Amino acid sequence: MAGSTSRYDVIIIGAGAAGLMCAATAGYRGRKVLVLDHANKPGKKILMSGGGRCNFTNLNSTPANFLSDNPHYCISALKRYTPQDFVELVDRHGVEYEEKAPGQLFCKDSAKDILNVLLTECEWAGAEIRMNTSVSGIRQAGSGFSLKTRGGTLGCESLIVACGGLSIPTMGATGFGYEIARQFGLSVLPTRAGLVPFTLHPDLKQQLAPLSGVSCPVDAHCHQQHFREPMLVTHRGLSGPAMLQVSSYWQPGDAVHINLLPAENIHEDLLALRNSKPQSTIAHYLNQHLPKRFAQAFNDLHGWNGPLQGYRNQELEQVAGTLGDWTIKPAGTEGYRTAEVTLGGVDTRQLSSKTMAALEHPNLYFIGEVVDVTGHLGGHNFQWAWASGVAAGNVA
Ligand code: FDA
Repeated sequence: MAGSTSRYDVIIIGAGAAGLMCAATAGYRGRKVLVLDHANKPGKKILMSGGGRCNFTNLNSTPANFLSDNPHYCISALKRYTPQDFVELVDRHGVEYEEKAPGQLFCKDSAKDILNVLLTECEWAGAEIRMNTSVSGIRQAGSGFSLKTRGGTLGCESLIVACGGLSIPTMGATGFGYEIARQFGLSVLPTRAGLVPFTLHPDLKQQLAPLSGVSCPVDAHCHQQHFREPMLVTHRGLSGPAMLQVSSYWQPGDAVHINLLPAENIHEDLLALRNSKPQSTIAHYLNQHLPKRFAQAFNDLHGWNGPLQGYRNQELEQVAGTLGDWTIKPAGTEGYRTAEVTLGGVDTRQLSSKTMAALEHPNLYFIGEVVDVTGHLGGHNFQWAWASGVAAGNVA
């Protein structure tokens, strides 16, 4: 009937990780649920995550793995829906997975398995998913909401915003969630790209060009946040888990500190080597501890020539300083184009940590990445999507 409104108990905007998890949870409670998404397919980021194998949780996830202007906010939801809870769900669906790094669980086969778990759960819970649907307007209607779409007007009691952040616009990311927050008077904290490769100034980029494609384990830090993981030099700059992690703490103009040999006492090693083998070289020492191509290029970059016996104590201290605290000032980051996450977002001080609902609008909820809660690399971001989705789905 023209002009009629289709009514739902719960409408969720965003068929990503958080939205689908929330839809199944609310659907199982008997709620009439509709998930809307402007993209042509649900869960696109799930499919591209973890190199196509989705690092779907981290068994060692704790609130310390999350950045937020309000660090306590995430604790309640994460406590009530744990990595083990998600593992049980995945087990019930017979998905095979493996622990690739300590705590980090990946699908053995394909990220499709995780999306299928969520879509199957939504189907069993009776939640409807409608793709290719943009929302052109939202207004409060009594205690609920009215949404304008090309297909007509939709009404709901509870509206859940699960539109994600700004990273990877080609995958359908938009700032719509932030717009909705602002429309209802919530403040949105400044956003920036996180878990993103660094770009370098042209001189350094050229100097490091011979290292392109080489990865080595490092300890990288910025603002006292240390990450001991591999670093990868690329033709564009610095990437790899260590750099992605540090990027979430980095601000333009900051230096990044890299210990290339975190397991060694470099200065003592060099002094001892000079005593025992005075003819040995720094290149030889580097060769023993770093990938050969990296060792060679890094040595050439610094012009460390000649036998160790020709180096004074102070010079060896400087070499050790360079290796143990290689300090780089990135030009910037690759930005939202390649960032895995968006830092900042809806200010959690205006949300209930129990339900994810806006304190001033009890039937309006914000879950997943749109909220100012951002995880470290390693499965924490999906864990937040699951936990916040369940928290809202249990009450909406
Ligand atoms: P998500 O982005 O998943 O979903 C938002 C949905 O809203 C999308 O379907 C989008 O189309 C829709 N939408 C946006 N605007 C809309 C609008 N205006 N109208 C209607 N719909 C709209 N994390 C992790 O834990 N382990 C991993 O292995 C990885 N790997 C990874 C790789 C890459 C390349 C990226 C980009 C990201 C990751 N992540 C990750 C991060 C992870 O993908 C991310 O944290 C979650 O997908 C966030 O889930 P959400 O549901 O909040 O947003």
